[in-house]
Amino acid sequence: MSLIITIDGPSASGKTSVARRVAAALGVPFVSSGLLYRGIAYQVLRYHTSPTDARAVLDLLRAHPVRLEPRPEGNRVLANGEDVTAQLHTSAVDAVVSTVARHPEVRAYVKARLAELEPPFVVEGRDMGSAVFPGARFKFYLTASPRVRAQRRARERGEDVAAIEAALRARDEADKAQSQPAPDAVWIDTSAMDLEEVVRAVLERVRT
Ligand code: C5P
Repeated sequence: MSLIITIDGPSASGKTSVARRVAAALGVPFVSSGLLYRGIAYQVLRYHTSPTDARAVLDLLRAHPVRLEPRPEGNRVLANGEDVTAQLHTSAVDAVVSTVARHPEVRAYVKARLAELEPPFVVEGRDMGSAVFPGARFKFYLTASPRVRAQRRARERGEDVAAIEAALRARDEADKAQSQPAPDAVWIDTSAMDLEEVVRAVLERVRT
């Protein structure tokens, strides 16, 4: 099997930054599964579909498919063939994405889209090593305390730490069912590490 590295973890655990850097260091594409879920949530909002109605969401995806294109300069999400990537990190999408992502049918749709991608790649998400690529050669699970994750995000966004921490804890709870670390993943607690150290820790294991 060609090289697949999975990097899973909760919101703001650093998985996207780490996956992107590890992919660049190895010269392979980076793939964000969260962006596909966000693209689906975007379509749900755009077509006024009920996020709790799995069947309606599936019908919507059949009529208006969502695709992910991993490119060297970043992942692109196409909805009805139109690039919607810049509209996927909004509070409106944040508010419905966990509800949409909970349906097994939606997870199967995302899994099928990801299975179409040609390895090698580094893929990040919440269940990449357990549910989507159980045969991946290297698997990592990044964690950090909610306070540390909130502090990192507050620095990025210039928002209040306490409010961000409350939102992160709520999303952790909403994503509980779909966050499945692979039993054979290497756990890295990044609470006391900076980005460089985490990237180095991952690369050391991949290169030895
Ligand atoms: O990683 P990101 O915050 O962009 O993911 C957005 C949402 O997509 C998560 O809150 C979660 O509900 C869902 N997701 C998922 N499984 C994944 C990746 C993301 O359920 N593998």
